[in-house]
Amino acid sequence: MLKYLKKYWLFCILAPLFMVGEVAMDLWQPDLMAKIVDQGVLHSDFSLIVRVGVQMILCVLAGGTFGVTCGVFANIASQGFGNDLRKDLFSHIMSLSFEQTDKFTTGSLITRLSNDVTQVQNMVSLAIRGLVRNGVMFVGGVFMLWRQSPRFALVAGCGMPFILFLIVFFLRKASPLFRVVQEKLDGVNHVMQEDVAGARVVKAYVKEAYELDRFDRANDALCRENLRVQTLLAFLGPCMNIIMNLCVVAVILVGGITVKNDGTLTPGSIMAAITYLTQILGGVGFLANIFQTFTRAKASADRIGEVLSSRPSLTDGADAQPETERGTVEFRDVSFAYPGTTQNVLEHIDLTVRQGETLAIIGATGSGKSTLIDLIPRFYDATSGEVLVDGKNVRDYTLSALREKIAVVMQRTELYSRSIEENIRWGVADAEPAQIKSAAQTAQADGFICETEYGYYTPVSEGGHSLSGGQKQRISVARAVLKPHEILIFDGATSALDLRTEASLYDALNRQDPDSTKIIIAQRIASVQSADRILVLDGGRIAACGTHESLMAESEIYRDIFFSQQREGGAA
Ligand SMILES: Nc1ncnc2c1ncn2[C@@H]1O[C@H](COP(=O)(O)OP(=O)(O)OP(=O)(O)O)[C@@H](O)[C@H]1O
Ligand SMILES: [Mg+2]
Repeated sequence: MLKYLKKYWLFCILAPLFMVGEVAMDLWQPDLMAKIVDQGVLHSDFSLIVRVGVQMILCVLAGGTFGVTCGVFANIASQGFGNDLRKDLFSHIMSLSFEQTDKFTTGSLITRLSNDVTQVQNMVSLAIRGLVRNGVMFVGGVFMLWRQSPRFALVAGCGMPFILFLIVFFLRKASPLFRVVQEKLDGVNHVMQEDVAGARVVKAYVKEAYELDRFDRANDALCRENLRVQTLLAFLGPCMNIIMNLCVVAVILVGGITVKNDGTLTPGSIMAAITYLTQILGGVGFLANIFQTFTRAKASADRIGEVLSSRPSLTDGADAQPETERGTVEFRDVSFAYPGTTQNVLEHIDLTVRQGETLAIIGATGSGKSTLIDLIPRFYDATSGEVLVDGKNVRDYTLSALREKIAVVMQRTELYSRSIEENIRWGVADAEPAQIKSAAQTAQADGFICETEYGYYTPVSEGGHSLSGGQKQRISVARAVLKPHEILIFDGATSALDLRTEASLYDALNRQDPDSTKIIIAQRIASVQSADRILVLDGGRIAACGTHESLMAESEIYRDIFFSQQREGGAA
């Protein structure tokens, strides 16, 4: 984590220096106080009282100024540190594959990005200020105490091992608990994120009470763990106080005996010694607090490190040789099982799609259609066999070069809470309004967009909830059509459209974009009957592939699907 502090090294040095100034002022105070008592009050020297009094006030003012400056510098360093760390973590999360984000879970990634970073950031701030303050206070205090009398320093020295033992003992016990606390926080964020995002389903199924109960359980678990750590650490302060007060009593005793026996000590110096001792031991108490924050931050830093150190499982290829083809896709004996599972979802897929061809894929739900097309932009890597785009293995491209060739409309449409226009323009930042309109026309979206109050500038609510399913799909199609591509992939992108709108969409697409290769997953044969070829997937294998006519003649499974859909259509 230290590398994130490098940029702020000047503040990291200046802040502690100002802190040393503040502490020096604090340490000077008791000395001045002893002087007032011993030389001023006991000898009725009024002018000395005034002179030293003014010194004390100046001392306080200077200490305050140093303290504020230190605080500002420490904040610049720690906030900058947190900001950079969060940015880096976020960009790293964005580079992770689907498999990796699934493994960490969204809730946990959000906790790591927010709460864990804050914990480490607090630690940095506290380390810059508190560690130096209390470290200097400790060393300086012992020195000043020694100056008053070596006996006092000896008393403080006797108390120290006990205090150190307490700190080590409690923090070792608390350390593993802090990790558990962060994990419970993951749990709360996980439920929260699922329920807030899925609020509509929760309401539709009247599951509020059930989900509330699930949230309560996660929340209670977090509360319990927090209580466990806090209860444990609650003992630390009082235990240290006991030792501290015993030391103060010892100083008074040693001081009193010395005053009585040999008169080498004055009442003022005993007073100063008690103040120093309180400062030293208070400083040690504060150090315990810092170590507590440190222990907590360590757990968080480890969790952040886990994300940062997980190398993206899909790495860029060399991308060296230019491709010889444009818009071709080939599967060579591809089999695939999802990471962490053993069962193949795709088996021995051999398939070539020519440039400009329209390939439709149909098949029962769960037959592997989405999985098949996910291998083309390399959302996952094939378990065995090769996937080639433009004659080159997808692993040999850089991910960005590969994905630039492809425009996908995924099965689950994702829209952002921006205007319709911005949603369409999403993949092409500098698109002209005319291009956006043309893409929307191809997607059969222009009509309904123009009917809305603000046209293309109509805001879309979060997740696209302000639009109908078919409208969302058409905006997603427009977004894909607008993005420059060689290969266009629709995963059920038109499933919510009526057959007539769907037919117009494909007509327009063929007219506007005849050159790109199109791979279209559909449930209804009627949607894709006119495709160049139709591929039937069955349980992860290619059951048949050909034109509608040839499949009707040769493929029993295709005929079955066709007639069952005809019957359903007729019944409807
Ligand atoms: N991330 C995943 N991890 C593990 N298994 C998965 C994952 N995604 C899908 N599967 C499994 O892979 C199989 C194929 O899923 P896929 O999404 O490709 O089906 P599909 O043909 O697109 O279905 P649908 O028509 O319902 O969209 C299913 O059995 C599914 O359970
Ligand atoms: Mg699917």
